[in-house]
Amino acid sequence: MSGFSEKFREICNRAARYPPRAVSPASASEPNGCPDIEAWAEHYVCSTDLSTKLDPPAPPKLFRVSMSSLRLTAPGRPPELRAARRGERTPKQEALDEPHYRARTLHAFLHHELQAAELMCWAILAFPEAEPEFRRGLLGVCLDEIRHMNLYAEHIATLGQRVGDFGIRDWFWKRVPSCRSKVEFVAVLGMGLEAANLEYAANFAAKFRLAGDELGARIQERIAAEEVAHVGFATRWFVRWTGGCDFGAWAEHLPAPLSPWVMHGKPIVHEARRRAGMPDDFLKALQSYVPGPKGRTVPRVEPA
Ligand SMILES: [Fe+2]
Ligand SMILES: [Fe+2]
Repeated sequence: MSGFSEKFREICNRAARYPPRAVSPASASEPNGCPDIEAWAEHYVCSTDLSTKLDPPAPPKLFRVSMSSLRLTAPGRPPELRAARRGERTPKQEALDEPHYRARTLHAFLHHELQAAELMCWAILAFPEAEPEFRRGLLGVCLDEIRHMNLYAEHIATLGQRVGDFGIRDWFWKRVPSCRSKVEFVAVLGMGLEAANLEYAANFAAKFRLAGDELGARIQERIAAEEVAHVGFATRWFVRWTGGCDFGAWAEHLPAPLSPWVMHGKPIVHEARRRAGMPDDFLKALQSYVPGPKGRTVPRVEPA
């Protein structure tokens, strides 16, 4: 077995401390200080403890019997996670030859995972009237995102850096809480940001491979493969609530100033998006969408 294959297996085994956890209904509440899933979700979002963000206690099994909508506006941030300085951006290809810059790139991806995990909790709290299987699905995705964070953290350590060595920008948090409904939430986070990540992950995996970091490339590919299920989860619920995966309907459910323009990378990964349930006409419209002179506009669909 080659060196990186061995190392890849070792990292995946270590991350098995955070295996995909089945989230199933149960008949009793759990200890650990949180009496129900809602309390756990709120605690996770608001915590300012880095170890809680990376390795929270197992969630309780039960939802609260009844609750009103709680719309958190910002997450707790551990002191280790400082705001990015001006000009501190994801490095370009040339810089990725240096482990420091690869770690910085993965740190940005780890922070995306953190925000996704927190925002799944946000939606559990914001939409208490939603279908229980949808809310249970949100919790399952949240636990996946936490596991992804740990895969990135492991490789960041391999590259000689630590979580907190680079600044963060809570961009998802600036946008997602403006979602007024569960439909807007799946449109923005699952079908928008997570779907775009399918493109970015494929893109950066190729860049890492070019820079000689096969292990880093494989970790990103593994996470991207798992993200297809998250995009599929969002798309399935969008279809159920709106009656189809229609591009125009999706664009209408993106709260301004978001538009399809910022919801994909290049090139669009048709095959992965198709596996997530996005039909060809949706992908064609996404690919040919251009914003109008004043921002939001009617999507332009090119002739076949
Ligand atoms: Fe993820
Ligand atoms: Fe995800």
